[in-house]
Amino acid sequence: MPDEPLVLGIETSCDETGVGIVRGETLLADAVASSVDEHARFGGVVPEVASRAHLEAMVPTIERACRDAGVTLRDLDAISVTAGPGLAGSLLVGVAAAKALAVALDTPIYGVNHLASHVAVDIVEHGPLPEPTMALLVSGGHSSLLLVPDVTDDVRSLGSTMDDAAGEAFDKVARVLGLPFPGGPHVDRAAREGDQVAIDFPRGLTSGRDMERHRFDFSFSGLKTAVARWVEHRHRAGEPVPVADVAASFQEAVVDVLTKKALLACRENDVDHLLIGGGVAANSRLRALAEERCARAGVTLRVPRPGLCTDNGAMVAALGAQMVLKGREPSDLGLPTDSSMPVTTVLT
Ligand code: KG4
Ligand code: ZN
Repeated sequence: MPDEPLVLGIETSCDETGVGIVRGETLLADAVASSVDEHARFGGVVPEVASRAHLEAMVPTIERACRDAGVTLRDLDAISVTAGPGLAGSLLVGVAAAKALAVALDTPIYGVNHLASHVAVDIVEHGPLPEPTMALLVSGGHSSLLLVPDVTDDVRSLGSTMDDAAGEAFDKVARVLGLPFPGGPHVDRAAREGDQVAIDFPRGLTSGRDMERHRFDFSFSGLKTAVARWVEHRHRAGEPVPVADVAASFQEAVVDVLTKKALLACRENDVDHLLIGGGVAANSRLRALAEERCARAGVTLRVPRPGLCTDNGAMVAALGAQMVLKGREPSDLGLPTDSSMPVTTVLT
């Protein structure tokens, strides 16, 4: 087993073709080709379009990653790849490419969970993960609160969204406000000019009864509907929509609940490190409020830089390298994809 394994990771679960290369816990390359522009006019990711884009981008992105890292494929000690969850066709493209590389290069292959990879990526940014770490994972497809005693084989779900994912809510609200897709970054930008207490939008699953039954679960669909109703009411009344205020008040409702529940989970599980990952972790208000509340609670906050929060190959390579370093048994070459892989399955 090499001390500092050189691992190439492939990510194709949604619309980013990501290829990352990591040596041990050091990031060498993070090449990403996104098909997001091809989906924009549909207002959401079109699975067939995404699969085809992955096919076209795969080889050039692998070549670019190797060039950036200054390595050749022959130097690789292992391949890791997102086996799920994600879009079925897109996952297949990545896993097929990873299998082809593993066969051609005679290296082990690790089929890993996309969500655990969002957690593991912070190792190449901020060093080894304290065990356990609390992880708040917020992306376009998922919102989960995870207790992570060991990111290579023990990830426990404390709660997750009952309906829309946090990123999905951002994207839908952006659409209501006439902002482009994907809406998260646009809402974030618009909110900077707005007043976060202008409109009192609902905080899902935070009432006394809900806190008993869904302590660490989230719900954003009621909030999304409340925003849509509020905007519609304005339209009907012939009044202008204060986009910045709506964006800021909506965003505040989301990040207030996310940070409150994450810190409650830290306290109740005696965990003093909180990691926030996934695309929504790029949100400037989430980062600021989390920092403020963590500092007050004596919890150390870790958030990867925005480029590592959105989908990328580095996160898959980072988790693959941990698998090698911890001596985990590689996956079978016949490993399947699983579009609804549970968050607790780290390695398939
Ligand atoms: O993790 P990710 O790249 O892909 C998934 O696995 O889903 O997350 C994408 C999501 C999108 O919904 C996007 O709108 C959201 O992350 N997002 C943001 C920001 N940047 C990306 N949401 C809020 N604020 C941002 N700055
Ligand atoms: Zn993701």
